[in-house]
Amino acid sequence: MRVLTIIPTYNEIESLPLTLGRLREAVPEVDVLVVDDSSPDGTGEWADRRAAEDAGVHVLHRAEKNGLGGAYIAGFRWGLERGYDVLVEMDADGSHQPEQLPRLLEAVRTADLVIGSRRVPGGKMVNWPMSRKLISFGGSLYPRIMLGLNLTDITAGYRAYRADVLREIDLDDVQSKGYGFQVDMTFRTARLGKRIVEVPITFVERELGESKMSGGIIGEAVVNVTRWGLAARAEQLGKLFGR
Ligand code: GDD
Ligand code: MN
Repeated sequence: MRVLTIIPTYNEIESLPLTLGRLREAVPEVDVLVVDDSSPDGTGEWADRRAAEDAGVHVLHRAEKNGLGGAYIAGFRWGLERGYDVLVEMDADGSHQPEQLPRLLEAVRTADLVIGSRRVPGGKMVNWPMSRKLISFGGSLYPRIMLGLNLTDITAGYRAYRADVLREIDLDDVQSKGYGFQVDMTFRTARLGKRIVEVPITFVERELGESKMSGGIIGEAVVNVTRWGLAARAEQLGKLFGR
């Protein structure tokens, strides 16, 4: 099983070296692709230097900051072109612990998509203020109800996809950028009838650098989930009434 871990970065010069170091140590057989959107703080140049001395590390540079979703899509394409069997998503900021990646990889042997969940038994959130817990709870419950997905952590960003799933999804059609991207991809995977499994993880809030998610990104997710949910319901009704 050839595995590629994709790490999107925008101004993560403090965090990326730590996360990448831990990842190479914990699972040396897993290759890494850093997708950097021309970070002004030099994250991309740092990653280039790291890649020059480690054959398992690669870097994809994009001209401008264009959202987490776009960075992952570019990373998926890169990995699919090179024949990886499994593509992993991981944040640079240390929230997703590299030492827990083997859990996801074990589960993806018998699943199409594995989500590292904070809300299944054994899952945890460390250093999360109550305000973020509440937003995250709502952010998970709303798509669960609207889209009829029986999952506990639909926005979660620590994931492993089987390459075949990503080949079946029309990646050109995925426009969502932030949290909505994770929901969008989950919904598309579910609609293809794929097997989605959640494994518990401990999510550690970042200590270094700043979050890139904004109110606009939450708004995008809410609007899109509502649209997708209503469209799916309309489709069901159409089938029921024979058109
Ligand atoms: N290349 C690129 N371009 N990377 C980006 C961009 C962008 O526009 N925006 C964010 N990133 C990178 C960050 O540098 C970091 O490595 C990762 O994406 C996550 O960004 P954060 O700013 O730390 O996001 P978060 O902690 O709010 O969101 C995490 O939790 C969400 C809720 O569970 C992520 O895991 C999300 O995917 C998840 O939906
Ligand atoms: Mn983060």
